[in-house]
Amino acid sequence: MKNEVVQGLYEVLDYRLSQETIETVLETPKYEHLGDIAFPCFELARINRKNPKLLAEELAEKLRGSVPIINTVEAIGPYVNIFYNKKLVMERTLSAIQVGENHYGAHEFGEGKTITMDLSSPNIAKPFSMGHLRSTVIGNAIGNVLEKCGYDVVRINYLGDWGTQFGKLIAAYTLWGNEVTVRSNPIQELLKLYIFFHEQAEQDQKLEDLGREWFKKLEDGDVYATKLWKWFREESLKEFQTIYNLLGVTFDSDKSEAYHHDQTPEVVEQLKEKGVLQTSQGAQVVPLEAEGLPPALIKKSDGTTLYTTRDLAAAIDRKNVYNFYQSLYVVGHEQSLHFDQLRAVLSKMGYDWADQLVHIPFGMMLQDGKKMSTRKGKVVFLQDVLQKAIDVAKQNIEEKNATLEKKEEVAKQVGVGAVIFHDIKNDRRNDVDFSYEEMLRFDGETAPYLQYTHARAKSILGKAPNISKKNHYDLPEQEWEAVWPLVKHIAMFPEVIKASAQEYNPSKLAKYLVKLAQAFNRFYTKVHILQEDAYMAARLEMVHAVTVVLKEGLNLLGIEAPEEM
Ligand code: ARG
Repeated sequence: MKNEVVQGLYEVLDYRLSQETIETVLETPKYEHLGDIAFPCFELARINRKNPKLLAEELAEKLRGSVPIINTVEAIGPYVNIFYNKKLVMERTLSAIQVGENHYGAHEFGEGKTITMDLSSPNIAKPFSMGHLRSTVIGNAIGNVLEKCGYDVVRINYLGDWGTQFGKLIAAYTLWGNEVTVRSNPIQELLKLYIFFHEQAEQDQKLEDLGREWFKKLEDGDVYATKLWKWFREESLKEFQTIYNLLGVTFDSDKSEAYHHDQTPEVVEQLKEKGVLQTSQGAQVVPLEAEGLPPALIKKSDGTTLYTTRDLAAAIDRKNVYNFYQSLYVVGHEQSLHFDQLRAVLSKMGYDWADQLVHIPFGMMLQDGKKMSTRKGKVVFLQDVLQKAIDVAKQNIEEKNATLEKKEEVAKQVGVGAVIFHDIKNDRRNDVDFSYEEMLRFDGETAPYLQYTHARAKSILGKAPNISKKNHYDLPEQEWEAVWPLVKHIAMFPEVIKASAQEYNPSKLAKYLVKLAQAFNRFYTKVHILQEDAYMAARLEMVHAVTVVLKEGLNLLGIEAPEEM
């Protein structure tokens, strides 16, 4: 619909504004009675040095009758308010869904382009944190939406399995660790050791040195250090996998920091060749003063590598393997500087694709307004959160629908869905306050509300008599008021997908789904859907369309939509 309005305006404006400009200028009026879409004339008036009010009137006149999708046009002040041809919108939207089913809303603009996406990427020997949950679910949703736009998305779990912290952990284990205890509950016990190490190190400087020595040994391939590291890694992977299974997230690659560590000598060689590496107090750095950034540390004075070194190797490897159109990193905003440095160093190395690296930052998960810190032991275990959510969902089912089949499965879909949606629905850049209550709420703007709405629509369809499909739809005049907002929302789905993809912003889709569900629920209370009159086919087709869009929308966010709840 919007496209047609853009095209129409483009033509009546004699191609003076680009289609992109028209598209960004168009807005949705605050109130229904002001139209379905509006074109403010300020920008055009500025260019033409004309009065915006007069321009709006002129434009409205020209637009009248020139575009089929437009029913009426009104100039109000500097605005051209446009009302759609409701019947035509309904007909087109419903037949598009009849034909396309869950392909409805797809685009082709991403076809032939590969996007690599670095997401989740937790650190081994530590619990899977809420920050990593954010990266996982936000990243997964962005990936799905990009795929819906035609891109080839490669999901990479860049496991944090290399770095000084493993030297510290090995040191702690050799000092205070006990194999039997660690085997009984690996992640929690390793975390305890890690925390204890940091407490002790505050009094005893030598411990830090010991940690560094062990990391050096690990980098040099020491047998004992490597054996411990492998063990910690395996235990962590097992634990992470149970979380990924619950969340339903899969990856295409799990090349980790350790994997890319092996490529770092080559990177260092290249940096030397290009003459961008300098020695500073025994360490190797790339100065980035001209870029307004602190120097990037490439090698410490003891010869060990750093996070940046490994990320450089990984970026180059990804370009070589996938020849990406874009390389995304879904990582908390506290690492923005790191990614600025990464891009700066790559471009100093002469890689003209450096600006195809896009950091997609998100806010922190706070507890009582403060950052959660693994070192200080202030963590909430994600597995506990998910389990609690599933338990609450189960309880709900027992109370409301005890005879439901597949109770366990539905409880899992609802509980996990609640956690995922809670994380996605707000703009990712905002910090989120961790609250069990908020996370486990099942009403209001939540996944369970959307899932219930979907199941309710499905059950209406289940009760409907079998009638043959039509492709001409009409409704009695008095029903349009309740129906039109719903039709409009269903018709907007493709635009919402496009915007969510282009802005890497799945919260747009999440908010849209809530509005769609609300519009449906209003329709449901105001209109007698199953009344056997000439309009029943149209109403049922709408209900069907709602189920298709809600389900597909939820799936794109990484959430399942049970048929029955
Ligand atoms: N493991 C890192 C952390 O937990 C995140 C890695 C993000 N990806 C990257 N290529 N640097 O902080």
